[in-house]
Amino acid sequence: MILAAGKGTRMKSRRCKVLHPVAGRPMISYVTDAAFSAGFSEVCLVVGHQADEVRRGLPGEGIRFVVQEPQLGTGHAVSAAQGMLEGFSGHVLILCGDIPLIRPETIKDFIGFHESARSRLTVMTTHPDDPSGYGRIIRKDGGTIARIVEQRDADEEEKAVREINTGIYLVECRLLYQLLAKVTPDNSQREYYLTDIVKEADRESVPVHGYVLQNPEEAAGINTRVELAQASARIWDQIRKRLMMGGVTLIDPASVYVDSQVSIGEDTILYPGVMIEGQTTIGSDCVIEPGVIIRDSILGDRVAVLQGSRLDRAVVQDGAMIGPMANLRPETKIGKSARIGNFVEVKKSTVGDGTKAAHLTYLGDSSIGSEVNIGCGTITCNYDGRKKHPTIIRDRCFVGSDVQFIAPVEIGEGSVIGAGSTITRDVPPDSLAVSRAKQKNYPLRSSQRPKKSDETRKH
Ligand code: UD1
Ligand code: CA
Repeated sequence: MILAAGKGTRMKSRRCKVLHPVAGRPMISYVTDAAFSAGFSEVCLVVGHQADEVRRGLPGEGIRFVVQEPQLGTGHAVSAAQGMLEGFSGHVLILCGDIPLIRPETIKDFIGFHESARSRLTVMTTHPDDPSGYGRIIRKDGGTIARIVEQRDADEEEKAVREINTGIYLVECRLLYQLLAKVTPDNSQREYYLTDIVKEADRESVPVHGYVLQNPEEAAGINTRVELAQASARIWDQIRKRLMMGGVTLIDPASVYVDSQVSIGEDTILYPGVMIEGQTTIGSDCVIEPGVIIRDSILGDRVAVLQGSRLDRAVVQDGAMIGPMANLRPETKIGKSARIGNFVEVKKSTVGDGTKAAHLTYLGDSSIGSEVNIGCGTITCNYDGRKKHPTIIRDRCFVGSDVQFIAPVEIGEGSVIGAGSTITRDVPPDSLAVSRAKQKNYPLRSSQRPKKSDETRKH
């Protein structure tokens, strides 16, 4: 069971806490993934605040949602799932949705400890350098746990305890609901605290075992944006190491941000200041220069993305060269060994193999064949103020500089478009199309001669 119904007031956000991305992925997805990787096949997720958004942000498979409304505390959240667990006689693992760094190995070890102690209730604890904000673990002489005191409700002596509650529990399901029925909201927040099941168990002489997690950072609970940034930093760091161990060169690792689902092939070089986000795949032997941002894109092998370019939902095939300062917008596909140069924007377009658009161009809603040359300053005029229209340029066309294609328009294979043309009609294959006013030369009259002022001459 994962508790994720809270608003996360301390985030000071309109978005609910567990949807905030940690290294590019919703916080909650790390916790569900950890549970599945630890071997659980079914997760009960307690949602409440922005329940629909949380639902949408997760793969539905294996997750059963329970709505907690209103949200009256962690104990109340677990109570909301009582109906779903009706008749279940096994043990339940409870996790909070705000601990993205938890590892599946730790969960497995925790279960092993619980089972070998034949425990009915086990709490995962740890000793962080700074325990502030967490519930403190109050042990009994024999070593079992007597109760958990929230920081807000703790006295000075209790606050001095360094062992804290990670918010991870294993508990026999029937016992859980017996104990929860006794929990009252008599605390500073007037909430039903899940942690109070510990003192209720103690009252019933059920021993509560504590499993001590050695690495406290793993159980770091994210309550504020400062902690969110710290968790992201740790995950980005792990990703950088994984990439480098996998054969990717990071010239200045700390300045490169790669999200967790991204995969990058061997001998690819990432220059400083690169961000690679979302579901992105990059092949081997690629070069990604400084200041490049790539999101949800697929790059083949030997692709070069030069300085300051931006790729969003683009596909770039082997050997293509993009940028500097190119903008590949969604639904763009660039063919093998194609060249998209500086200040070229491509949107919802296919560019064929070996085609070049080297400078100052806009290609939108277009389909460009292979081995085409698009001259500097070419524009597909795709928008008439109401609708978008396609431009089709077939294989081996040569488009001179400063050409406008007034879409919809189609250029047949092997045709040549004269520089400075405004193309409003289709061009058949193997044709030369020129559409511009004929140049006329006149002898200059002296009155028409440009006159230089004294001022200009001086400089
Ligand atoms: C909780 C524990 C604290 C522990 C800490 C570990 C309680 C009372 N305190 O404190 O002992 O040290 O976690 O990180 O349990 N939630 C709901 N419904 C609610 C309230 C919260 O689903 O009504 C969910 C939140 O979405 C969150 C989780 O429960 O994912 C924990 O809630 P939070 O408010 O962050 O608890 P803490 O104050 O951190
Ligand atoms: Ca918390």
